[in-house]
Amino acid sequence: MDPAADTRSELRPDGSGSEPEAGSPEAAAHALREGRLVLLPTETVYGLAADAGDPRAVAAVYAAKGRPAFNPLIAHVADVEAARQIAVFSPEAEILAAAFWPGPLTLVLPVQPGGRVCDLARAGLDTVAVRVPAHPLARKVLEAFAGPVAAPSANRSGRPSPTTFEAALSETGEAAAVALDGGPCEVGLESTVVALLDAPRLLRPGQVTREQIEALVGPLAEAEADARRSPGRLTRHYAPEAPVRLEAEGPRPGEVFLAFGPALAGPDVLNLSPSGDLEEAAANLFTFLREADARGASGIAVAPIPEAGLGEAINDRLRRAAGAIG
Ligand code: TXA
Ligand code: MG
Repeated sequence: MDPAADTRSELRPDGSGSEPEAGSPEAAAHALREGRLVLLPTETVYGLAADAGDPRAVAAVYAAKGRPAFNPLIAHVADVEAARQIAVFSPEAEILAAAFWPGPLTLVLPVQPGGRVCDLARAGLDTVAVRVPAHPLARKVLEAFAGPVAAPSANRSGRPSPTTFEAALSETGEAAAVALDGGPCEVGLESTVVALLDAPRLLRPGQVTREQIEALVGPLAEAEADARRSPGRLTRHYAPEAPVRLEAEGPRPGEVFLAFGPALAGPDVLNLSPSGDLEEAAANLFTFLREADARGASGIAVAPIPEAGLGEAINDRLRRAAGAIG
């Protein structure tokens, strides 16, 4: 018998697959290692958590949220040492981490080469958002899992972040293998997000205030410079070097072709999902765009991707890569 099947029945004794197990931190860490999702309480809001190094699991998070775009996700870790393994720390980053971790502050930093957070969790960016949450259950899960955990707020897209166990269950509970009840969230507002890339920049206000941060690292620039370039968005989007051609039937000379579905194979073809699985395609997307650039392609041609479900987010991201929308 398949040993994985054993574990599944242990986590879901009735085998129904619709209700998450109200489990322990160890069961949650085990589910994460298996590529499954966990409803995770933090002191700010509940998160829908996945192994940040597993693009299939991260794709399942985007699918469960119905995110219209691949917003980069926050990587949660147990302590600052674990954070240094995935992000490059500047002196300012060290100061803010020492002052506010564990706690409701997220730092956007250059990604550590070889770090475990996958391209999809970072939405293809060379930066990574990292935080050490303070909630005791979240801390236990992170210690037991011993790796970065990607966790956006557990709401479905366009809805407010859940701050109680019941709200979290009703939002995305169906997608979770294990759900941890940590009671009502103490902060109830998402973490403060500060980028430390060029000048320190406040991307999202939160419980850790501008004044508290400025007292330690000096004036914070506004996020507006980026927001003006792409209205309504606080983050830059990854775009490949090579021009992107959408709805293509195959590669022209010099192009790399991103296929979808069973039809094509060949040296210039990278297949996002031979079986036509949107979660698999999402998991491969940013990695393949980067791979096409690494091969020195003169262009990237992409097969039509169905617009349904996760396809909307994939197409949104592809249209951005093609420069069709800002
Ligand atoms: O309190 C919180 O931060 C909660 C709990 C679960 O930790 N999480 C949360 O995640 O609010 P989410 O995905 O809903 O919000 C993450 C924010 C988004 O605004 C995203 O654009 C930004 O962080 N972000 C993540 N990575 C980024 C990056 N590399 N550069 C700029 N912004 C980034
Ligand atoms: Mg959110």
